[in-house]
Amino acid sequence: MDGMSTDAAATTLRAPRPGAELLAEPMRSRWSPAVFATDAAIDDATLESLLVAASWAPSTGNTQPWAFVATRRGTASYDVVVDSLSAGNSGWVPTAPVLIVAATLVGEHDGRSGKGDYTFYDLGQSVAHLTLQAQAVGLHTHQFAGFDHEAAARGLGIPASFRVLAGIAVGYVGEDAHVEAAAPEDADRHRKERVRRALAETAYDGTWGTPLA
Ligand SMILES: Cc1cc2nc3c(=O)[nH]c(=O)nc-3n(C[C@H](O)[C@H](O)[C@H](O)COP(=O)(O)O)c2cc1C
Repeated sequence: MDGMSTDAAATTLRAPRPGAELLAEPMRSRWSPAVFATDAAIDDATLESLLVAASWAPSTGNTQPWAFVATRRGTASYDVVVDSLSAGNSGWVPTAPVLIVAATLVGEHDGRSGKGDYTFYDLGQSVAHLTLQAQAVGLHTHQFAGFDHEAAARGLGIPASFRVLAGIAVGYVGEDAHVEAAAPEDADRHRKERVRRALAETAYDGTWGTPLA
């Protein structure tokens, strides 16, 4: 690997990637591991700080349509989430000590209404805040859509007026020993090079199609 140690090479593949060096922390170093440290728990105050961060996200008319169910390893709720996972996610997701199910209001609940597109927009932004708070306190997150959303909603008692959209695996990033103990496909996913489309394809200056000056 051009004289780089395996660890150095692996770090280069993860964060910061070229173009992301100019970012402030914690955006600079955020990435989604596929192997968490299976032997590291998250204390209650730290977990609460993630959900407080989510709650302080901006939202349309301050409607705060989001709702989260946090589950800890060793509980029946955590097992509900694990049992609902798609095949591709069932190896790596349970390496995280906390799994959070994210839902948003799509009906009527306690006099609040979740109609319209912005309920989805607001949930995404709230989760972004959660992930960055996690990164800032030394945790990592990896979101996942691949699970049976209805089964998870049923098992966790989420009302029908909320739509489950994603899970968030939260934990401390796996060290070399954890990666070596992981299934080969999960270790590969963990080490996979992170890439982005060129900024010129996604951000324009003044008019559509004009690259930023
Ligand atoms: C809403 C959402 C759903 C995702 N679903 C999955 C999933 O089911 N399985 C998975 O391995 N990763 C999933 N991801 C993780 C993305 O693949 C990952 O964020 C993307 O590859 C960029 O990598 P990075 O987060 O390290 O920058 C999901 C991410 C988001 C935001």
